[in-house]
Amino acid sequence: MKHLVSVSDLSREAAIAILDTSLEMSEVNDRDIKKLPTLRGKTVVNLFFEDSTRTRISFEVAAKRLSADVINFAAKGSSVSKGESLKDTAQTLEAIGADAVVIRHHASGAAHMLANSGWVKGSVINAGDGTHEHPTQALLDAFTLRSAIHADARGKGLDGVAVAIVGDIAHSRVARSNLVLLKKLGAKVYLVGPPTLLPSALISQADGYSYSLDDAIATFKLDAVMMLRVQLERMTAGFFPSEREYARIWGLNADRLALLGSNTFVMHPGPMNRGLEIDAAAADSKNSLVLKQVANGVSVRMAVLYHLLSGGENE
Ligand code: CP
Repeated sequence: MKHLVSVSDLSREAAIAILDTSLEMSEVNDRDIKKLPTLRGKTVVNLFFEDSTRTRISFEVAAKRLSADVINFAAKGSSVSKGESLKDTAQTLEAIGADAVVIRHHASGAAHMLANSGWVKGSVINAGDGTHEHPTQALLDAFTLRSAIHADARGKGLDGVAVAIVGDIAHSRVARSNLVLLKKLGAKVYLVGPPTLLPSALISQADGYSYSLDDAIATFKLDAVMMLRVQLERMTAGFFPSEREYARIWGLNADRLALLGSNTFVMHPGPMNRGLEIDAAAADSKNSLVLKQVANGVSVRMAVLYHLLSGGENE
């Protein structure tokens, strides 16, 4: 595999292989010296046209822990603000000598374009493109859930695990990648949210859906709820009456957390709108995997870089 643009690029076996390598990487990350020589001499460029905290920082840490050189490029403060195109930006980075380009872009399809354009010779990793996909987020979510459910997770999928993805599904690349990857790993995936934010094309791929979080909690025996950020910046219309109404009907609060019970994990890709899609009672609860998701992001991105850049050849 040369690029990671979509979770559809991965077979179940390839996804499990990355999750197993992530486990190895997490053991490296638990050591005092968190460094491997695997990618010495390689250059990884982080090309971010959209804001990011978790993804950008964890890709940088991941590449450095594998001994790669890292160039961080943010559109803000670059010649993109003078009108330079994606093609010219990519070719400039190619001239500098990039073995991998990690790209986040506001346009759905930007990562696919870069991977298939010939503008760069190295690997392309999609770090989130518009409302399309965020494959490394889905991998880190699957890794986090698998580790929470299985004491010895190596080699395992998520067969029979019931997950509800809740909220602003229409605008969520995280939901699209998770729906496909979780199902590939054998999970049952339910979509929950307001009718205006639940596209029928995605409902048809899920194991069930509900327009009511309360009904979903009562109906589906959930092992995990994956709350999504309400992406107000992508909304061009009134998708729900008010933020207060959204929080009342679809927010994960203390009452709903109690209804879910002590065996259901709470997930959120971040950044969280506390008080809107999730309350502190849920985000900071003992069932919350939110910070584990962030920490696992480094191990999973190390594994992805390792698989793409070393061809999985190094021990
Ligand atoms: N989950 C996620 O992609 O977060 P960032 O936007 O901070 O990278």
